[in-house]
Amino acid sequence: SPTFYLPLFYKITFCSGRCTAALLLVLSAVPIAYLISLERAVPSTHVIYYHSSGFLRECAKWDDVGRRFLVSFMDGGGIGEVVIRDSDSDDSEVLEEVILIKDVDIAGNASAGIVIDRDRNRLLVAIGDMVGNKYSALAAYDLSTWHRIFLTELSGHSKEISFADDVAFDA
Ligand SMILES: *[C@@H]1O[C@H](CO)[C@@H](O)[C@H](O)[C@H]1NC(C)=O
Repeated sequence: SPTFYLPLFYKITFCSGRCTAALLLVLSAVPIAYLISLERAVPSTHVIYYHSSGFLRECAKWDDVGRRFLVSFMDGGGIGEVVIRDSDSDDSEVLEEVILIKDVDIAGNASAGIVIDRDRNRLLVAIGDMVGNKYSALAAYDLSTWHRIFLTELSGHSKEISFADDVAFDA
């Protein structure tokens, strides 16, 4: 609310270097402490943990045929799978993410929203330049071979900013 932010701004302008850093540290400690408490709490729902090669997965979709989650890589782009084990296995077990797609020709762009198009046996992926917003595309991959079926650029070559974040399809 403005009553909170206005005094804060005022304070920062009269407070330089070490003082601002200390202020930001104190302010960020509250949300970080909250996140840590959430991470440590026993969840009320069933949670699947997995080791990942990156730090940010943008989208996850359940593939009921493959009994796995497909996940998209925001950092650097690509697609991975997390295969679920039998239901009688230990709940606290940490699964492993396996990389399925890492396209070098669009490296540096994020893979954002994904959707499984079961009837056409393909995965559709929204691709975009997360930092510069200079490139957007839609890619499709064969769900059996992971060969890329197409890559269609959406951004054109104008200077307009562009970031494809999600994808949907109809029949
Ligand atoms: C995204 O991919 C395009 C097409 O290959 C490439 O020209 C561009 O440099 C990539 N963007 C980034 C941020 O790497």
